[in-house]
Amino acid sequence: MYVKLGNRGGKSVSKDRVSRRQFLNYTLLGVGGFMAAGMVMPMARFAIDPVLKANASGDFVATKVKVADITEEPQRVDFKFDQVDAWYESEETGTAWVYKNENGEIVALSPVCKHLGCTVDWNADEKNQNMFFCPCHYGLYEKDGTNVPGTPPLAPLDVYPYQEKDGILYLGKAQPREGA
Ligand code: FES
Repeated sequence: MYVKLGNRGGKSVSKDRVSRRQFLNYTLLGVGGFMAAGMVMPMARFAIDPVLKANASGDFVATKVKVADITEEPQRVDFKFDQVDAWYESEETGTAWVYKNENGEIVALSPVCKHLGCTVDWNADEKNQNMFFCPCHYGLYEKDGTNVPGTPPLAPLDVYPYQEKDGILYLGKAQPREGA
């Protein structure tokens, strides 16, 4: 209900009526807020998103290997996992050397050489049987992944944490160990 305050140019004016100035202010405020939200939300998401994804990267991923089929001889196991880099998500292939030790425990080693990152191979050097061998600079590792002193690598191979689900081997993110 309007309260008439008088006539201005033949038109009635009321104190409850929204003036043009107020209407313009409200409109600019609304549009400005909308634009600010449009700029701030992507920045906030950019800041928070990698943190959220970091939790997901800690998940275990399934391999195609049955735990019952793992022997004492290291076997190369390739597996797929999702790599998240900020907003970019891609499917990558990981590799592990997997075997059971003398106690029947599963050992899953990273194949990435701790010297300069070449790929180590099992039992590939005739002069050093039953060892992991890196052909790039003749790096050597014991079967448990311990680096052999006197060869270039200065740390043991990283180890994958593992889980068994429905008889299948799952691997987590490879973890570094103390140097020999
Ligand atoms: S990268 Fe493996 S020994 Fe150098």
